[in-house]
Formats: sequence, structure tokens, C-alpha cells
Amino acid sequence: MDFDNKVIVITGASSGIGAAAALLYAKQSAKVVLVGRNEESLNKVAKQCEDARGIKPLTIKAELSHDDDVKNIVTKTINIFGRIDVLVNNAGVGVQGSILEGVELLDRAIATNLRAVYHLTSLAAPHLIKTKGNIVNVSSVAALRPIKDVNYLPYCISKAGLDQFTKCLAVELGRQGVRVNSVNPGGTNTPFAETAGFTKEQVSELYKSRSSLYPLGKMAESEEVADLILYLSSDRARSITGSIYVIDNGEILV
Ligand SMILES: NC(=O)c1ccc[n+]([C@@H]2O[C@H](COP(=O)([O-])OP(=O)(O)OC[C@H]3O[C@@H](n4cnc5c(N)ncnc54)[C@H](OP(=O)(O)O)[C@@H]3O)[C@@H](O)[C@H]2O)c1
Repeated sequence: MDFDNKVIVITGASSGIGAAAALLYAKQSAKVVLVGRNEESLNKVAKQCEDARGIKPLTIKAELSHDDDVKNIVTKTINIFGRIDVLVNNAGVGVQGSILEGVELLDRAIATNLRAVYHLTSLAAPHLIKTKGNIVNVSSVAALRPIKDVNYLPYCISKAGLDQFTKCLAVELGRQGVRVNSVNPGGTNTPFAETAGFTKEQVSELYKSRSSLYPLGKMAESEEVADLILYLSSDRARSITGSIYVIDNGEILV
């Protein structure tokens, strides 16, 4: 894969799948733009990326539900690197809750998982059209069916919207040479569930019981999801757009 000198913007690069993707791109000599909220974690990932090929990443602290922070991502990237070749909309938040708990939970899920993606993509699109670049959205199997045993209603809806965004945008931008695809992981070993409100013990129990039901009997690792992101954003995937790629150890089959 040739990402030499390509500029890759990755949201949620301070942790889990986004951090793994950032490192893989950096190993391919890309100029990575690491977006997240936790500065300490961002700096740790930046150091690993720089150590890989000696190219200093740009780190941008951003709360994606704040419009000014989103605008700053594109402004800073263009000021420093002058172009955008790939946008990886990876940041996401797991919001659980019942319909009986009111609409605020939906607002929380949509703010990060859908509205921020829409906003950032709208600002990055003119630059992606110039470079004939591409977009990879990180969705979830939760877009395709309800999650078993946990009521992730707001999260599921936000990710289902994200999948339709991927498909509609692939149609809109296709003739301008921009591809748009989605990676939809199932259970993956990251801090995600803890951030969604589970304790360490609950996560360990949940992961053990859930993964034992998957046909392959295990969770995925961040690096495997990152591999798929890299593939879809590379020229090897030049005929792929509007596609939803599930990586879930068979989770949605059972
Ligand atoms: N892990 C799974 O089982 C799984 C399954 C299916 C789909 N996914 C999807 O995979 C993507 C990555 O998640 P992960 O598993 O790698 O989880 P993670 O380790 O918890 O990482 C989530 C990332 O998103 C960032 N983020 C969240 N809300 C944000 C906001 N409002 N503004 C800015 N950054 C924000 C976090 O930044 P800070 O840490 O800096 O705050 C962090 O870098 C998400 O879209 C998630 O929905 C995960």
C-alpha cells in the first residue's frame, strides 16, 4: 500500500481502533493527523507514530460535538500539511438506554457518532475532491441489528444513520473521484465498553460471555480493524465505494 506522504486525518486517534490505524498509516510513511480529546493519550500515540518512520504527526485536541473544534481540524490540517488524502471518521461513543429514558440519550449519540461526522466530512470534502481521496467511516454491527443483552438503542440508531450516510455520500462524491466506505466491527478489545459506562469486571464478563457465542469464539483486536481501514483507503480498493465491511468474528450470524 502506498501512503507515502499522504495526509490522513483520523478522529478518535487517542485510543483503540483509531490509535492502531494511526500507527499502521505512520508505518507506511503517511503524515497522520491525530484527533482526540485526551492530550496525554494523543501525545503517546504521536510518539509511537513518529518513532515508526520519523514523520512528526499533527495532534489536534477536539471535542467533536463542538462546531469550532471541528472547523479547527480542517483549518489546522490545511495550514500545516496543505492537503487531505484520507479522512477516517472513527471517533464514537457507546450510548446505552431505553426509549423510556427520553430523547437526550439520542442527542448524545447523534452529536458524536453522526452530526460531527457529517460536519467534519462537509468541511474536508472540498480537499478530498482536490486529491481524489477517500473516506472510511467506522460504524458497527450495531448499525445492522440490535445488540444482544444490552440496550444500545441510541447507539444503534446513530450507527444505522452513519451507514446510510456512507452510501448516500458514495453516490454524491463518486463522480468526483472520492470513494466512501464503512468498516463495521463487532466486539473488539478496546476501552470502548468502559467509556460506555461498564465497570472493568462487567466488561470482562460481557466480553467472555459474548465472544463465546461468536462462531469464531473470540473478540477482534484493534489492529485487525485498522488493517481493513487501511485496505479500504488504499488504491487496492479503487473499485470499492459505498460498501459496508463487517469484521465481527461472525457475531451478526448468531
Ligand atoms: N470496541 C468495539 O467493540 C466496537 C465495536 C463496534 C464499533 N466500534 C466503533 O469503533 C470506533 C472506535 O472505538 P474504539 O473501540 O476504538 O473505542 P475507544 O478506544 O473508546 O476510542 C474511542 C475514541 O473516540 C474518541 N471520542 C469519543 N467521543 C469523542 C468526542 N465527542 N470528541 C472527540 N473524540 C471523541 C475518543 O477520544 P478520547 O479518548 O481522547 O476522549 C477515543 O479516541 C467507534 O466509532 C466505535 O463506535 C467499536
